Amino acid sequence: MVMISPSILSADFSRLCDEIKLCERGGADLLHLDVMDGHFVPNITFGPVVIKSIRKCTKLPFEAHLMIERPDKYVRDFVNAGSDIILVHREIKISIEDVLRKIRDHGAEPGIAINPETPFEKVKKYLDSVEYLLIMGVHPGFSGQSFINSTLEKIKEARNYIESEKLDVKIEVDGGVKHHNAREIVDAGASVLVAASAIFRGNVEDNIKRFKKL
Ligand code: DX5
Ligand code: ZN
Repeated sequence: MVMISPSILSADFSRLCDEIKLCERGGADLLHLDVMDGHFVPNITFGPVVIKSIRKCTKLPFEAHLMIERPDKYVRDFVNAGSDIILVHREIKISIEDVLRKIRDHGAEPGIAINPETPFEKVKKYLDSVEYLLIMGVHPGFSGQSFINSTLEKIKEARNYIESEKLDVKIEVDGGVKHHNAREIVDAGASVLVAASAIFRGNVEDNIKRFKKL
């Protein structure tokens, strides 16, 4: 079963709790929280304080997608704020092993994310210590960009590798996921679809249900 994880980046932040409840009603499986620090990516969003306050709005599991240079410094804060899954980027300059271990030690599920220009090869050695591999379909930083089609090849490569090694890792695809390309992305091997603009533009509940039907 393919899971849908709405990214609140395209939600109306003045009524965030209502938007999140609509996601729940539409049948979302997770809630995707894009955390940006203005260094790792050229944009700034929100952090643990906001996550803690929206924790009251829903029972959906939270996945914190940390697009920040030093996730190691904030693992405890993100877990205490209510994050169930924490995704860090392969491209950060600190020890990936240490930060993944720290996430697990604090009781959350670790995941690793890769940017479009990072080859799949670069994450292989971490896959036996994560629950999720998040493959970016756009350059991180903003919602509403178009899906980079070469990502499909990377998803297939990851799927083949995960199956051949019998690893228990879910492939998430994030960025540019729309109703028109969801089928293709799932066929390539994705089991979690993250979407911001395709869900929060228009009717949130219907948009999620349409994804689920595909
Ligand atoms: C981009 C974020 C994505 C983004 C997706 O840096 O990681 O989660 O919100 O937005 P859409 O679905 O509009 O491409
Ligand atoms: Zn994201």
